[in-house]
Amino acid sequence: MTEPRDFLKKISPYKPGRPIEEVARVLGLKGEIIKLASNENPMGPSPLAVQALKNALVESNLYPDDSCFHLKKKLAERMGVEPGNIFVGNGSVEILPLITLAYLGPEHSAVASQSAFIWFKIAAQIAAGELVEVPMKDYRHDLKAMLKAITNNTRLVFIANPNNPTGTIVTRAEVEDFFKNVPEDVLVVMDEAYFEYIDDPDYPESLRYLREGRNILILRTFSKVYGLAGVRLGYGMAPPEVIASLSKLRISFSVNLLSQVAGMAALDDHTHVEKSRATNAAGKKYLYEAYRKLGLFYLPTYANFLFVDFGKDSQVVFESLQKKGIITRTIKEYGFPHALRITIGTEDQNRKLIKALGEML
Ligand SMILES: Cc1ncc(COP(=O)(O)O)c(C=O)c1O
Repeated sequence: MTEPRDFLKKISPYKPGRPIEEVARVLGLKGEIIKLASNENPMGPSPLAVQALKNALVESNLYPDDSCFHLKKKLAERMGVEPGNIFVGNGSVEILPLITLAYLGPEHSAVASQSAFIWFKIAAQIAAGELVEVPMKDYRHDLKAMLKAITNNTRLVFIANPNNPTGTIVTRAEVEDFFKNVPEDVLVVMDEAYFEYIDDPDYPESLRYLREGRNILILRTFSKVYGLAGVRLGYGMAPPEVIASLSKLRISFSVNLLSQVAGMAALDDHTHVEKSRATNAAGKKYLYEAYRKLGLFYLPTYANFLFVDFGKDSQVVFESLQKKGIITRTIKEYGFPHALRITIGTEDQNRKLIKALGEML
């Protein structure tokens, strides 16, 4: 056998939440299975996007527009930036290794929190670069400590805001202070996958830093509020020089025809976005109260999932829930062996979850 290159040995591949079909097949479950494992939108995909997908199917024989002209134009108008500030990916996660391949090498380091979204670590490893992991403070990114971890070799800082799996944010004031002090040659990657769920005045306006010409790359996705996780579509916004560097690493046509039309339609589906936000807000309120009554520690969330601590090996809880047809997510690899990350579902799904937990605990 051909020996793989050394840096590959360090990489542990990402473990996604288990798909419904797999759980049904492996456990031989018959009835309804509820997936609360991957922070998808329980309200389903945007209906406007579904219609656009159906309409576009008949053009599947043609390669898509590799420049994503119309989607970039629409996003640029919506965000108040130029199309040249936008990079579109097959999901936002696809963009992470392109960032590290463009900017990180074995002689460089990137900085992130110890329990930050784990793809930051994988992306650094893919580029054979080092990821310096800074402990969190009260389950939140410690931006002051992250600043201190920056050295002459640092090229990138990754900040998931809100963070997955904690659901916590760094505030406007904290980010302001961070940008006052971060060296200009360090690219700050702000992963805002859950952006559309947030209406807190304390949440930073990251686009302002881009408009001010700062060295920032903002990641957003259609996988969450727009309900298009299965279609795969995400984007990054950054100075044109950064977009040009990433573009050299793109695989041609990685953003397919269906993703592009679905994304365009979803951006116009304000009704679906509002319904999804309202369902999430109501679910959050219900679950806070329910977890409090069950005596469980949870972190108030800015996203569409909750970090819940069970005070014991969470594998047991995960498996018991799974047997009852509810798929959640263990987060041991983030350093939390006692907690589960559980997506906020529909009202009915949340009630079934709490009923199952009540019976179990
Ligand atoms: C912080 C964060 N970034 C990115 C993603 C993935 O997004 P995408 O589906 O666009 O690749 C997730 C998904 O759970 C996430 O939590």
